[in-house]
Amino acid sequence: MDVLECIKGRRSVRKFTDEKVSQADIEKLIDLSRFSPTWKNSQSVRYIAVTDEALKAKIADEAVMGFEGNKNIINGAPVLIVETTVDKRAGYERDGSFSTSKETHWQSFDAGICAATFCLAAHEAGLGTVIMGIYDEKKVIDILGVPEGQSVSSLIALGHPAEEPQAPKRKEVADLLTVK
Ligand SMILES: Cc1cc2nc3c(=O)[nH]c(=O)nc-3n(C[C@H](O)[C@H](O)[C@H](O)COP(=O)(O)O)c2cc1C
Repeated sequence: MDVLECIKGRRSVRKFTDEKVSQADIEKLIDLSRFSPTWKNSQSVRYIAVTDEALKAKIADEAVMGFEGNKNIINGAPVLIVETTVDKRAGYERDGSFSTSKETHWQSFDAGICAATFCLAAHEAGLGTVIMGIYDEKKVIDILGVPEGQSVSSLIALGHPAEEPQAPKRKEVADLLTVK
């Protein structure tokens, strides 16, 4: 698959088959995601792959703020990737001060780039993903025992697609670009 096809063809997939995703397949996606650019190459993004059905169900039941959509996605996905970031790395100086006036912003920025790379790599491998932002961070941390000093940046459902969604309408280039 060429890169243009991959970028344009990737969709958020919310329904998955029962087929398992192997640990080797997950590792291949992380192997690609780790080539994402990050703040001063700080590489503060981490991934927890949740495949245990009971653990996944607990997250679906207790940690998505009651949002049925995400609950169904998580219960139906063979893997839930919990993307975390080590705090106080991206956007920080060595002495612990902020590098810019945007303060903590760069942590999420790095996580977003890594999530995009992960989802594109999954699409290229024939797998489907959807990034989920509607979750209760504290509950996810408690359920999974996320190490102290890390934040949860996104949840990403991963599996073999059971649907081929249409692309939601995109704004035109002219609506997005200003040239000065
Ligand atoms: C930061 C972020 C948070 C999102 N949160 C959710 C979510 O909680 N639940 C969901 O079903 N989709 C979620 N999405 C998926 C978007 O709805 C989807 O990317 C968008 O509609 C465009 O569709 P496409 O990904 O198929 O191009 C999220 C996407 C992003 C980037």
